[in-house]
Amino acid sequence: MNNIGFRRTHMCAELNEANAGELVNLSGWVQRTRNLGSIIFVWLRDRTGLVQLVFDEKDCDKETFALGESLRGEYVLSVQGKVSLRDEAAVNEKLKTGRIEVFVRKAILLNKAETPPIYIDDDHPDESETVRMKYRYLDIRRPSVQRTLRMRHKILQTLRNYMDGQEFVEVETPILTKSTPEGARDFLVPSRLHHGTFYALPQSPQIYKQLLMLGGYDRYFQIARCFRDEDSRADRQPEFTQCDIEMSFVEPEDVQTVVEGAFEEVFRTVKGIELQLPLERITWQYAMDTYGSDKPDRRFGLTIHDVSDAVRGCGFSVFAGAVENGGTVRGINAKGLAAKISRKEIDALGEFVKTFKAKGLAWIKVQEGGAVQSPIAKFLSEAEMDKVLQALDAQPGDALFFVADKTSVVLQSLGALRLELAKKFDLIDKNKYDLFWVTEFPLLEYDEEDGRYVAMHHPFTSAMDEDVDKMETEPGKVRAKAYDLVLNGIEMGSGSIRIHSSEMQERMFKLIGLPHDVAWERFGFMLEAFKYGVPPHGGFAFGVDRLIMQLTGAQSLRDVLAFPKAANASCLMMETPSTVDPEQLKMCGIAVVDEEK
Ligand code: AMO
Ligand code: AMP
Repeated sequence: MNNIGFRRTHMCAELNEANAGELVNLSGWVQRTRNLGSIIFVWLRDRTGLVQLVFDEKDCDKETFALGESLRGEYVLSVQGKVSLRDEAAVNEKLKTGRIEVFVRKAILLNKAETPPIYIDDDHPDESETVRMKYRYLDIRRPSVQRTLRMRHKILQTLRNYMDGQEFVEVETPILTKSTPEGARDFLVPSRLHHGTFYALPQSPQIYKQLLMLGGYDRYFQIARCFRDEDSRADRQPEFTQCDIEMSFVEPEDVQTVVEGAFEEVFRTVKGIELQLPLERITWQYAMDTYGSDKPDRRFGLTIHDVSDAVRGCGFSVFAGAVENGGTVRGINAKGLAAKISRKEIDALGEFVKTFKAKGLAWIKVQEGGAVQSPIAKFLSEAEMDKVLQALDAQPGDALFFVADKTSVVLQSLGALRLELAKKFDLIDKNKYDLFWVTEFPLLEYDEEDGRYVAMHHPFTSAMDEDVDKMETEPGKVRAKAYDLVLNGIEMGSGSIRIHSSEMQERMFKLIGLPHDVAWERFGFMLEAFKYGVPPHGGFAFGVDRLIMQLTGAQSLRDVLAFPKAANASCLMMETPSTVDPEQLKMCGIAVVDEEK
């Protein structure tokens, strides 16, 4: 065949009625065929979408028609044909090109294909995830994946343009590096030239970006690949991408303003949504007290209220005891859910909160007439019950839930219960984008297992000026110049103003029990560098994959990466990780030992 080759004059889904009568060359994959004997309909797919080809015995030569008959799904095909308007009755509104079709004159079969192990379309959501991941190169032919990866490109492009416009410079930092302070496990790379030593893959460019500030770059950003050896979850991958930012001579608001501007630009460009800036800022303490979470989903109510005062000294010993022992009793008013939630469901919620260390879940249903139904009613006098109801502003029809315990357990379990109730009763407005800052995080958190304080963000984060004096005396109460950005209950990113004096840095290492020599071994180059004139600086990093996941409505990070890792951190397609040639191991001085030994 001739003279057409496989070069295209048009893309499939760009054809429309205006092209009627034109002779066009198209190339792509066969989506499906319908053979009616003397006429064969074939859907041809390229990156733009689908168009209907028609092989008509009357219209093309025998050879071409025979080729049309031989076509199967995913064959690679080039055609030359004439664009024709469809009869009104044959118009397919579901297809972007459904008002036209292309009558094939000539065709070349460029490649055959075996029957694919998965459907190449978006109509089979039940397809096995494992098979999709194994044949990811076929899976990414699907229109929804194509759309997502193109949106990913657009988002990255928008971010780069915006940052460039704000006079940030993108600097690439090394992948072969040393352990960074993000607190997950490192991926290690053995060195061949230096036996017995290892590089670590960066968990983030944190140290490099701080050194860039020392180096006078002032405004740095990077679309940076980060690696963390932690268990994968729906919103976690072992390798992921951050938009990483650092600035000199700034306060938290300066960093936040830049980040808000970046989000404003992305939302505007890819979603046509205008964000209201500045974004709302709530403190960590408020977020914890109100939602039981430092990344609250605020698209629904069910806020947490402290009822400790109302139950102090009451007849229900669990409540009174918790308050007496320095704990707390807090509750949620599930407005109007009393009639919708069964006893069995309440029992299941009781079991649910136990997984967050709560010892039980007390509840009260206020019936339409105003009578209360509750397993704890028998312990409370009428006046005590009234106080509890008032504390949660209970009205007929409401269901109230309470947990009594130490504050951390109460907040964690009620925070989780909130989300569970919202999911169960479909209370989340899916069309809402709720983007806001959580500020004033604690500098440290107490690690019960290790019996010491650890940095909540990372050990380079500085304390709030008004709390610095408390660092040694009341470390748990010190607030940090640290801030998170939250979108629809998901942590998008984190940042802080950094410590910029070596004395303060040493003080911080001491607080988290990092001995002087260990700190120097791990971060010595940084402490050394800090002797040479560090500007005050701070920054932020947000997860690009998580942002794309939110903007595309994807259920998992896997859906927004071209070649993701499965839940167990393996790549089913390439079968990585894999064993290597013993020679390679020998060169690095490594021997693999059985786990049992
Ligand atoms: P942090 O560790 O909070 O901060 O990470 C910043 C953001 O990166 C994203 N992220 C992930 N995304 C996908 N998979 C993962 N495994 C994963 N881990 C993190 C999240 C998170 O909010 N250097 C600091 C930032 C700074 O202080 O400037 C840092 O890395 O969206
Ligand atoms: P009991 O008298 O032990 O059956 O408890 C009465 C109710 O109180 C049950 O619904 C328990 O789930 C609940 N309960 C028990 N311990 C707690 C607690 N620490 N916080 C909240 N509710 C509790």
